[in-house]
Amino acid sequence: METLILDSEKGIELGAKLIQAGEVVAFPTETVYGLGGNALDPSCVAKIYAAKGRPADNPLIVHISKVDDIYPLVAEFSESNKRLVERFMPGPLTLLFPKSEIVPDSVTAGLKTVGIRMPKSEIARKFIEACGVPIAAPSANASTRVSPTTAKHVYEDMNGRIPLIIDGGDSEVGIESTVLDLTGEIPTILRPGAITPEMLADVVGSVKTHKGEVISSAPAPGMKYKHYAPTVPMVVAKDMKSLVEDYDKKVAKNMNPLCLIRGQAVQAVGNRRYVNLGNTDAEVCRNIYRVMRDSEKVCDSIICIHLGESGVCKSVMNRVLKASGGKIV
Ligand code: TXA
Ligand code: MG
Repeated sequence: METLILDSEKGIELGAKLIQAGEVVAFPTETVYGLGGNALDPSCVAKIYAAKGRPADNPLIVHISKVDDIYPLVAEFSESNKRLVERFMPGPLTLLFPKSEIVPDSVTAGLKTVGIRMPKSEIARKFIEACGVPIAAPSANASTRVSPTTAKHVYEDMNGRIPLIIDGGDSEVGIESTVLDLTGEIPTILRPGAITPEMLADVVGSVKTHKGEVISSAPAPGMKYKHYAPTVPMVVAKDMKSLVEDYDKKVAKNMNPLCLIRGQAVQAVGNRRYVNLGNTDAEVCRNIYRVMRDSEKVCDSIICIHLGESGVCKSVMNRVLKASGGKIV
């Protein structure tokens, strides 16, 4: 199968036709690119799992273009849910509700809950609206690969597996949505993201946070798999001193390492090989996946500075620690 890449206007037109014909189409969102199909059609859902090589016990998020599209998909909806929806939809937040009958079991991997997200990206919403059905979509990477934040990333993983990629440029946020489970007594974050616990607590009173360690019994089934891993080994350095030491040790062993640092550390890294992730937290978040993808092509090991715990960096570190298998030097 030949994989086309089209700009948003042409891509939305053809993409909607392909979706209506039961095909799978990659599309941009503000978080990462998604691999979309008709969420109400089990055979289309099966195609998504196949294209991605994803285990069948890892559920998909259902994407919508307007708030009213939530109601047919859920069995319950409360006042505090309404406040969350008003505040954060559209945006980089996925809410888990008890699912209604019309959501196929294959979308939720047999779970009784369904994850729903309305992307902020206008291209994404126009595409979903043109499709006329809710769109089930995981991130558009091959299973265990880094999530794609450009159409080119998607092409690297999906060339020959899907008919179309809609090109919407670089994803603005750069990491996947926050996943919030609303089915327990206290709303619980299953995956941290750009919508932080503080922002959520502001609306619902209190939320349980997810600490970000890789634990096998994590409530989001997807969290137990090794995720977001570059193809070369990666470690996190707790500070610049450790980063420099680890780099020099590797060079002495004839290795070819690469440092990922913040703009403020350019002096400290000296003449060692590095990539600047950015000066602000938002820049670091936007760039992290692209830099991981680019880095694996030009070095044999990645040393990433610890990016701190403030605001969105806690969520970025969740991804970085997964990519490095939790290895800290
Ligand atoms: O930003 C995003 O969320 C992107 C874009 C494309 O929207 N999508 C995305 O999908 O990251 P995916 O499939 O790569 O990650 C979805 C995560 C997985 O960890 C999955 O296990 C969890 O959400 N999830 C989805 N539905 C769930 C459910 N009903 N219960 C528990 N976890 C769920
Ligand atoms: Mg994913």
